[in-house]
Amino acid sequence: MKITTCVFDAYGTLFDVAAAARLAAKEAPDSPFAQHWPKLAEIWRAKQLQYTWLRAITGAHTDFWEVTQNGLDFALEALKLDQDDALRERLLQLYWELQAYPEVPQMLKDLKSLGINTAILSNGSPDMLNGAVQSAGLEDYLDAVLSVESTGIFKPDSTVYDLVGNAFSCSKKEVLFVSSNGWDAAAAAGYGFDTVWVNRGGDPLDRLPWTPKHVASDLRAITALLT
Ligand code: LAC
Repeated sequence: MKITTCVFDAYGTLFDVAAAARLAAKEAPDSPFAQHWPKLAEIWRAKQLQYTWLRAITGAHTDFWEVTQNGLDFALEALKLDQDDALRERLLQLYWELQAYPEVPQMLKDLKSLGINTAILSNGSPDMLNGAVQSAGLEDYLDAVLSVESTGIFKPDSTVYDLVGNAFSCSKKEVLFVSSNGWDAAAAAGYGFDTVWVNRGGDPLDRLPWTPKHVASDLRAITALLT
């Protein structure tokens, strides 16, 4: 079936989640943080995601901004940076206005000129997503920004993926779902979407019961898949 709708994960896929720590390190090159930023970015992201899964499994939902702060607080303490309140505030501010990967605006523009519906489907809360979409200047190229907050549970619960069909009145087979998170791409494939795993880091395939249909090294491949 022809793909009519292309849906993107937000954090790590359109927006560079390491950018907050990288920029904060650049602003304070002589600080202890400047040595540790890649490790902080890694622990922050890993904990943020673990907390989403644990909250989904236990039914103890809270929004992604809370989980993002919880993950950051764990990471700061793990690296003995938890006394630096100004650093914490700066990292959160930078996370709110994350940079998009460089190829994102042109790719979305190209999809719109092909007549494809475009959307974000993300764990992010609506406010966080609006902050990131606006600071990256993407609002004109997205038909919808879908947040898990309307379901009250995080990915990969299937009710989250249901938001796409509800928003665009389309079947699963008309949807290309794009994520840099291997587990998200795999779960979306299991749900029934065509999927692309954007594997920028050359990571191994997640060992899960489902496999993404396509693997790409960045987002420039998406337009070609839909042409
Ligand atoms: C999101 C997370 C998974 O944007 O990156 O949904």
